[in-house]
Amino acid sequence: DGTSVADLLAVAERVARAAGRLVHEGRPARVEVAATKSTVTDVVTAMDTAAEQLLREELAALRPDDGVLGEEHGYEPGTSGLTWVVDPIDGTVNYLYGIPAYAVSVAVVADPAAGPDRAPDPATWRVLAGCVHNPAGAETWTAGAGLGARLDGVLLQRSEGPQGAEASLETALVATGFGYDPVRRAEQAAVLAGLLPRVRDVRRIGTASLDLCGVAARRTDAYYERGLNPWDFAAALLVATETGVRVTDFAGGPAGGAGLLAARPALHAPLLQALADAGA
Ligand code: IPD
Repeated sequence: DGTSVADLLAVAERVARAAGRLVHEGRPARVEVAATKSTVTDVVTAMDTAAEQLLREELAALRPDDGVLGEEHGYEPGTSGLTWVVDPIDGTVNYLYGIPAYAVSVAVVADPAAGPDRAPDPATWRVLAGCVHNPAGAETWTAGAGLGARLDGVLLQRSEGPQGAEASLETALVATGFGYDPVRRAEQAAVLAGLLPRVRDVRRIGTASLDLCGVAARRTDAYYERGLNPWDFAAALLVATETGVRVTDFAGGPAGGAGLLAARPALHAPLLQALADAGA
């Protein structure tokens, strides 16, 4: 419809900031768990629900023909071929405890395989624009396909990190995350046990979108996780790939729920191998 990537990015940032204000300024001194989802550790606060509602209302006003896929209210198909993939609070457990590392994640994707009964899928989508807004940490990450990625408006460099092309496993700082399902957690713990002795150290920040943005900004060297949902990483995926970070699944194919590994090119292959060695 003639809408440019820059226009879509402006919408993403506008609605992410609006939801961020609600979530951050409206955070009660003591956040109550409103419900639990898959397991008792998978919490949803009243704010997750309210913030997703706000995102959907703002998007309906600005982009009435687009679909929306969100963590709390599922998939509402549109007619334009574009779908907004939103997470009102990525890092809900950090939010619950007041750890200032949670984010509103808003992406817009085009997926020729999506339709009224089929939500966009990371295997076939193209992310056009995305915003990851951390209101408590006061940082905003934006990316547009072909336009690069920015942190608070400053373009992130595409070059290799501090270790250059020599980036090696034993000096890599690797972030990871864990799902809520205890069976999966046991598997994740086993993989971690295999990987930890081989790398510089490991970080568990608690917010997948910020983990991915962290690789883009070289705050870590890599990030991997199994079991993510599309809204956890859609926006941050573009932030990472626009800075030259390679993002795949654990077999080198498109990243998705079955696996996501993000690393700069020199480190990507050694980490794929190390994950395979560790049984990922
Ligand atoms: C979770 C966070 C966490 C990751 C989990 C996600 P939520 O998202 O991103 O870091 O390890 O896999 O589910 O539930 O806080 O939106």
